Amino acid sequence: MNIHAYERLWLVASMVLIVGFIVTITYGTVGLGITMVDDREETISPDDVDEDDRFQDPRVEQVGENEFEAYVVSMTFLFQPDPIEIPANNEVTFYVTSRDVIHSFTVVGTNTNTMVIPGEVSAMTVEFDEPGEYGVVCNEYCGPGHHDMEGSLIVHP
Ligand code: CUA
Repeated sequence: MNIHAYERLWLVASMVLIVGFIVTITYGTVGLGITMVDDREETISPDDVDEDDRFQDPRVEQVGENEFEAYVVSMTFLFQPDPIEIPANNEVTFYVTSRDVIHSFTVVGTNTNTMVIPGEVSAMTVEFDEPGEYGVVCNEYCGPGHHDMEGSLIVHP
């Protein structure tokens, strides 16, 4: 069978596109310098946030050689701690809860994004490859100060 040269060219070109799309979907997050490792939730009463060992003192803690945990409290209209400081190329598990209403914990320009629901602890493990300062914003309307609700995440080299 003799395939016309142009036809073969288009066949090859469309194969390259299809493979390209699959690669983009599979590895798209790598290009953003972040890898989503895990995603899960547990519960906590909003009244207990101040008595909870993890959240009475919002902080970042080293728990293993390359493992960190960040306990983050969101409330109208801020995040604690601020800034959140973590090292690059280490697994960081964020535990985020709310003291009052529904917020979100969204790290701008990455896929680190979770709803923060009072009564629940949103947990996700991520790894930042790109050092720098990232904005942390709230994507759920939470009141008159919603648009000013922002913090920062510093990823140290
Ligand atoms: Cu918190 Cu919008």
